[in-house]
Amino acid sequence: MALNMFVIRWVKVGFYFILSSFLFACKPPAFNQNEYDWKLPKGFPSPLVPLDNPMSAAKVALGKKLFFDEGLSFNQSTSCASCHQPQFAFSEPKKTAVGSTGQRHRRNTQSLVNVAYNSNLTWAHSGLNQIEQQILIPMFSENPIELGITGHENAVLQRFEKQNYPKLFENAFDDSQATYDKIVKALASYVRSLTSFASPFDEYAYQNNDGAMSDAAKRGMELFFSEKFECFHCHGGVNFTQSSQHENQRLDLRPFHNTGLYSVDEKGAYPVYDQGLIEVTLQPHDMGKFRAPTLRNVEVSAPYMHDGSLATLDDVIEFYAAGGRGQGIANPLKSPFLAGFDLQLEQKQDLIAFLQSLTDHHFLNSNSNYPLASL
Ligand code: HEC
Ligand code: HEC
Repeated sequence: MALNMFVIRWVKVGFYFILSSFLFACKPPAFNQNEYDWKLPKGFPSPLVPLDNPMSAAKVALGKKLFFDEGLSFNQSTSCASCHQPQFAFSEPKKTAVGSTGQRHRRNTQSLVNVAYNSNLTWAHSGLNQIEQQILIPMFSENPIELGITGHENAVLQRFEKQNYPKLFENAFDDSQATYDKIVKALASYVRSLTSFASPFDEYAYQNNDGAMSDAAKRGMELFFSEKFECFHCHGGVNFTQSSQHENQRLDLRPFHNTGLYSVDEKGAYPVYDQGLIEVTLQPHDMGKFRAPTLRNVEVSAPYMHDGSLATLDDVIEFYAAGGRGQGIANPLKSPFLAGFDLQLEQKQDLIAFLQSLTDHHFLNSNSNYPLASL
């Protein structure tokens, strides 16, 4: 009996010893996430990052290689970058996306610009807040199939045990073994690293360079921020979308609006194949609500809207001037900011010039021509 107690006690002590050394060993290294260089203009707040996935240059490097690797799709035909193409601000010139089996997605590929600041992800989801969660959709979704990994988990994972992947995993996670957890964390870090704050507008507004924007673009900016055109109510803040959060502001202003694109009945219904936020919240007043997208680099991310149904910026501005489209103009659920306005040709040109001043050529150039062959 006494011996047993003795043994049990020592087993316990040993257990605590092992546990504490395990905890000690697993304790994340003291990592100040602000040590990561976000390349933000001076004074800009850093994005919030999940505690279990701090940013590091090594994770971004691994995530970048994975993002451009077609081996991430079950049939090796499609990568994240097949849809999110760098030269189009990580969107693509298609109305709606097409997955690795040729299956068509109902929505337009979103651009990936300052996504690290988005408090809601995708076109219409109030509960999808972390990039790590969102990335699981293109990887594993079966309807529609995007990368189509489900059912092929082992075969896909084995591809990341070759080339210089083990070394990249080792650098990023102190462990060379590929796992889906690490793949998702690295991809999320790469997506977070895609910050764009070097447009002529930024130079004008934040670097005090008066000559950075043309006169037309400056006039367009006045219109954009005017009570007549109303754009800024929904496309506000540094990212021109209300869906932003950062270290100085955690308030979530709900960024979803009905802009009167459709009304297939008298009551404001959107087409059954995509009715927006209502699909998630089941609240009737969320019919036809979608997230106001960022307008940064919008010049290169045509076509527009959640279904790619407006081809050009000209069409978008005509659409707002009309207060919606077709039957959608009388949509009873339409935002009160979509009242419509009369528009002179010169005003339209000025507004477009302003939107073009949000194009960050440095961002587009530094991410295109990704040297795949050298990896
Ligand atoms: C078949 C084309 C396609 C592929 C492949 C694809 N995406 Fe997407 N992506 C989309 C579409 C379409 C949306 C909008 C989805 C929605 O609203 O339901 C989107 C949305 C996103 C968003 C949300 C952006 C925001 O501002 O909310 C992120 C982040 C993203 N994708 C990252 C990735 C990553 C990382 C990969 C690779 C693992 C990937 N995507 C693969 C088409 C694709
Ligand atoms: C009531 C809020 C609201 C107002 C006001 C508003 N927008 Fe939007 N904007 C949105 C939403 C929501 C979307 C996406 C709608 C969809 O896809 O169903 C959008 C989409 C866009 C797009 C397409 C972006 C893309 O990537 O597809 C552009 C460009 C745009 N708006 C510019 C403007 C301009 C210019 C004005 C002022 C004339 C304006 N918006 C006023 C909410 C608004």
